[in-house]
Amino acid sequence: MMFARTSLRGARATHIQHARALSMATIDPSAIEITRTSSPKTKLPNEELSFGSTFSDHMLEIDWDHENGWHKPKISPYGALQIDPAATSLHYGLQCFEGMKCYLDDEDNIRMFRPDMNMKRMNNSMKRLFLPEFDGDAFVECIAELCRVDKDWIPKGEGYSMYIRPTGIATHPFLGVGAAQQAKLYAILSPVGPYYPEGFAAVSLLAGDEYVRAWPGGTGDSKVGGNYGPTILPQMEAAKKGYSQVLWLFGEDHQVTEVGTMNLFLMWEKPGGGKELVTAPLSRGDILPGVTRDCVLDLARKWGDCEVSERNVTMAEVVSAVDEGRIIEAFGCGTAAVLSPIKLVHYNGRDLEFPLANGQSGDMCQRLWNEITGIQYGKIEHPWSIKID
Ligand SMILES: Cc1ncc(COP(=O)(O)O)c(C=O)c1O
Repeated sequence: MMFARTSLRGARATHIQHARALSMATIDPSAIEITRTSSPKTKLPNEELSFGSTFSDHMLEIDWDHENGWHKPKISPYGALQIDPAATSLHYGLQCFEGMKCYLDDEDNIRMFRPDMNMKRMNNSMKRLFLPEFDGDAFVECIAELCRVDKDWIPKGEGYSMYIRPTGIATHPFLGVGAAQQAKLYAILSPVGPYYPEGFAAVSLLAGDEYVRAWPGGTGDSKVGGNYGPTILPQMEAAKKGYSQVLWLFGEDHQVTEVGTMNLFLMWEKPGGGKELVTAPLSRGDILPGVTRDCVLDLARKWGDCEVSERNVTMAEVVSAVDEGRIIEAFGCGTAAVLSPIKLVHYNGRDLEFPLANGQSGDMCQRLWNEITGIQYGKIEHPWSIKID
């Protein structure tokens, strides 16, 4: 059963196989098998939680093979995966993932935040790697069941949540570069605390063109592991110079793209007058379509206080705006921190300073924070927040 599919015809044939397999067996949440742990772990007190380092008692796994499609979903005690050392995920980066969260509201209901968006993005990532696509609603239902099983692991309180890490990997043991014939979806849960325990802590960024995160035709708009490994060296170099994140630029004209694991927004007065909130467009395919980005765009458009644009902005425009005092505020946004005010960008030998109107952040950033976290914790009823029990 091991053969390479490097030609277009081969690729099409495999897509048809994927489709056939999907029609044979889709993910069936009603068939889920649950094996509970007999040795629950000790939970850390909330104040000792640090991002991504504590894991709950159980995990979800759903295997796939090209002949049978999706197998029965299984929830079992959290533990090491058994994976063949020839699995193509370990050699060719056939791996993608998502980052999403669930929250406990004041009535102890579990709430997920826009899980459909994560599933849509994960299916795009799976497709980009020629891994099997899946029914997003069915995977969310399995993840919801995992959250119910580990409900007592979801930390309660402002800023606390359960970070959910759905992951897709090729498990096919094959040293040729080709389409995976076996794959696995799994999900693990990690209780997390507030990103900035003492309120916002505005970040400083390093922008340069020595490294490039993504480019047209690449994988920048997919959440594949291969996008992240190569960012660690630049990130470490930036940290050594005292900057907390890298601001990725693209092209000869140094277009502003995104920051570390966040999309970037700038609020400024346009040269001809008028306030604009602007972020890089998704059209070139090099920007991750962030769920939080989409929330910011949607809310800002609804509020209607400023023009809201998705368009390219160059560093030359940013430098002019700083010199002319036209920058109102800048912030990054993503699932982990939700919103992160930006106080400074180092570029071309200069520290470009951005205003923080209320000390720690700008007004728009604060308003978005109140609204988005209010929805996430069910304090503001909104269709983005989905009760799952
Ligand atoms: C490169 C990159 N950009 C932006 C984001 C923000 O996306 P989201 O709001 O969906 O977390 C992330 C985090 O997932 C990311 O890794």
